[in-house]
Amino acid sequence: MLELQELCFSVETPDGSLEILNNISLTIPDHRLVVFTGPNGGGKTTLAKAIMGLVEPTSGRILFNGQDITPMSITERARLGISYGFQQPPRFKGIRVKDLLGIASTKKLLSKKDACAYLTRVGLCANDYLDREVDASLSGGEVKRIEIASILARQPELMILDEPEAGIDLWSFARLTETFEEIHRKQETTMIIISHQERIISLADEVLVIDHGAILHRGSPAEVLPAIVQGTLGACPMIGEEERK
Ligand SMILES: Nc1ncnc2c1ncn2[C@@H]1O[C@H](COP(=O)(O)OP(=O)(O)OP(=O)(O)O)[C@@H](O)[C@H]1O
Ligand SMILES: [Mg+2]
Repeated sequence: MLELQELCFSVETPDGSLEILNNISLTIPDHRLVVFTGPNGGGKTTLAKAIMGLVEPTSGRILFNGQDITPMSITERARLGISYGFQQPPRFKGIRVKDLLGIASTKKLLSKKDACAYLTRVGLCANDYLDREVDASLSGGEVKRIEIASILARQPELMILDEPEAGIDLWSFARLTETFEEIHRKQETTMIIISHQERIISLADEVLVIDHGAILHRGSPAEVLPAIVQGTLGACPMIGEEERK
């Protein structure tokens, strides 16, 4: 179980302190699929990074399975079973896809068959990719899917994926959503997926709309999706004011 208690993150700017996460409290029980959505710049990535330990909260606590992980490093959190897939994944020159999957895997030696299976689950033809380097020669969509495959190979207890759909073609996207659905159905892991995609939002047990660093709204996809489509959530207050005049 993941618990966020009054999480805040602010940065100092020339104009003073800027609040990026504003008192976020949240509990995610095991094996849930929770989607964070909301307008660009709302704070979704910052919140995900705070859970992974890539961003140090200004105040508040993060508990994982009852243990306070707030002071822990990224490595320590990874050892406890938390994995994070970046919105823009890094590339690793000199490391081949099969090496990356092998490093990520919890198994001592990842077999070729298993490595292929992980790539297939993200819609990649394994034979074409196993020996490729994870460098700039891969397209954005390819590197994104390879990173997701490496997270699947890790078999984490908590998987955080930041916009897994970004840059991915429709065919691979369909395969990827099937994979998320399957993981969820088999209760393999707890999933936090940051997404703007209706198809992914509709898979969630709970959807959180994050705006201005706070949870603006939360509910089931059936409750939240119509409100998003009708534009009644997260509207710019200044535009709203203009429209009322
Ligand atoms: N270190 C920082 N210094 C200044 N501003 C920051 C910093 N980190 C994040 N921000 C700002 O905080 C806000 C939230 O950023 P974040 O990346 O979390 O948004 P997001 O919800 O993931 O947006 P998107 O949907 O575009 O990915 C943005 O306005 C961003 O510019
Ligand atoms: Mg983001």
